[in-house]
Amino acid sequence: MTVLVTGGAGFIGSHSVEALLAAGAQVVVLDDFSTGKRSNLPPEHPRLTVRSGDIRDAQAVAAALAGATHVLHLAAQVSVRASVDDPVDSSTRNVSGFLTVIDGARRAAVKRVVYASSAAVYGVPAQLPLDEAASCLPLSPYGLEKLVDDQYAALFAALYGQSLLGLRYFNVYGPRQDPASPYAGVISRFAAQLAAGAPLTVFGDGRQTRDFVFVKDVARANVAALQCDHGGVVNVGTGARVSLLDLIAALGRCAGRTPQVRFDPPAPGDIRDSAMTPARMREVLGFVPGTALDEGLRALLHA
Ligand code: NAD
Ligand code: UD1
Repeated sequence: MTVLVTGGAGFIGSHSVEALLAAGAQVVVLDDFSTGKRSNLPPEHPRLTVRSGDIRDAQAVAAALAGATHVLHLAAQVSVRASVDDPVDSSTRNVSGFLTVIDGARRAAVKRVVYASSAAVYGVPAQLPLDEAASCLPLSPYGLEKLVDDQYAALFAALYGQSLLGLRYFNVYGPRQDPASPYAGVISRFAAQLAAGAPLTVFGDGRQTRDFVFVKDVARANVAALQCDHGGVVNVGTGARVSLLDLIAALGRCAGRTPQVRFDPPAPGDIRDSAMTPARMREVLGFVPGTALDEGLRALLHA
């Protein structure tokens, strides 16, 4: 298997590259290094090629696809809050970029494409927990972009017979999630604030809930998804529902001290509650996440 991993220098991407190399695959990374880092990847590996390029550039995508049998498409603008602040940049990466990659894969007759969708597509849940048949009412440009991607993928499968699977990740956390940006994922921000002895900044009342899944588990799910031939979309999470206040308590337990907390105004576009059913994930991917929240937080705090 020769896998093109777009966004392979990023957080989920670099762990996925590691898992693919361990599984014996040949790997090509295409990344514009806007948030990803070369240092997230092994400095040298006989089965790894790293290319700098933009997924919105059809020629760069075609060149990176030469010889690829599979694509793991992860490159994107990943922040819900950034998509509210700059919806145009977000859509060029998340819709035009997505389309350029799946169309490039079609032209290159790649066997299979697995791509990152998101729990953000569900938006306001009619009921919890969410299964894949739940209605989608996105609350942010980001959620809408990922939903459009799912619709493009279904259309390409029907029109061209392409093999595509979208993974609706819930909230992924772990080592290498960059805390630097104000748009960074909540656990990476809280871990950095805790290390600096600063108060943890909670947007809203802290009672919003998320399903936090450890990145090495997600990397395993990605490998399983490339190896199966199911289409459509699959939720990827743990099935647990954790509020930010519960998360802060867990971080305090793992760090051995009680964090200070500051409450800021709620973030526009934010989902209130998120929880998934793991049935399809188990059936389609044969995948069960193995890392409990405290274990994953300890791995992050001691990385
Ligand atoms: P990340 O920012 O670490 O990774 C994104 C990577 O894509 C980076 O390496 C970045 O440099 C690259 N990139 C961005 N725009 C690009 C472009 N135009 N051309 C080439 N490369 C580009 O974020 P991540 O958390 O690893 O996210 C990976 C994927 O998973 C994204 O599609 C994201 O939407 C999705 N996702 C993430 C989560 C999560 O909780 N982290 C949850 C659901 C879905
Ligand atoms: C995250 C991912 C998104 C993914 C989605 C799936 C990132 C940056 N975003 O979005 O790619 O598609 O999960 O569910 O990885 N918060 C604070 N304080 C902070 C930062 C955040 O209180 O300093 C709050 C947010 O308002 C939100 C929650 O924490 O309520 C989670 O935020 P965030 O980590 O940015 O994730 P999502 O927006 O859920």
